[in-house]
Amino acid sequence: MPGLLLGDVFPDFEAETTYGKIKLHEFLGDSWGILFSHPRDYTPVCTTELGRAARMSSEFSKRNVKMIALSIDCLEDHHGWTKDILAYNCEESSCTSLPFPIIADSKRELAVALGMLDPVEKDQDGLPLTARCVFIIGPDKTLKLSLLYPATTGRNFDEILRVVDSLQLTAGRRLATPADWRPGDCVMVPPSMSEEEAASLFPGGIYTKELPSGKKYLRYTPLEETQQ
Ligand code: BEZ
Repeated sequence: MPGLLLGDVFPDFEAETTYGKIKLHEFLGDSWGILFSHPRDYTPVCTTELGRAARMSSEFSKRNVKMIALSIDCLEDHHGWTKDILAYNCEESSCTSLPFPIIADSKRELAVALGMLDPVEKDQDGLPLTARCVFIIGPDKTLKLSLLYPATTGRNFDEILRVVDSLQLTAGRRLATPADWRPGDCVMVPPSMSEEEAASLFPGGIYTKELPSGKKYLRYTPLEETQQ
């Protein structure tokens, strides 16, 4: 069974969360969304990840991104574990709750439907745990990006923020961001764009790298303030 593909409308499920019952599309409204799963509550890597996500949440909300986490544990565990996450990661702040809800997918229904299970990591009953999935959903409710990490590898939330910046910058625009791009860096002209069109669309000028093939496809352009 193929999983969700880029461009698919993300399923509009209803779920129990630490913020009460949520319908995903209603919860997201006109915002971008990040749904991210973790294997299990009260585990070390997950504790660092949710803490990092909480500490970076203002950066995501500045970008109009709503976050929502998921694991196969129950609400009671989510609430109990939240205290540990806050104590370990947010000691100096006075926050008493996470800035995003956690879905309680105890029956693994969403995890199965969304292809989130890790076949290697199992619980004490031999059932698979959730892998570390990231789904980025656009305001049009379609899937813009997905990442899938095994339980044993914690994610880099700076990278998740970086890809949000790239997705938002390139949405509906004919440009692309190169490897390791950061906001403010030059962007790349897509290969389908003619030199004439590129010159008119990118007034900041185009730098074309000479290559052994002689082909002129490696084209950078600075992004003018007015274009951002
Ligand atoms: C963790 O979050 O620490 C973890 C969870 C499942 C497997 C391995 C690590």
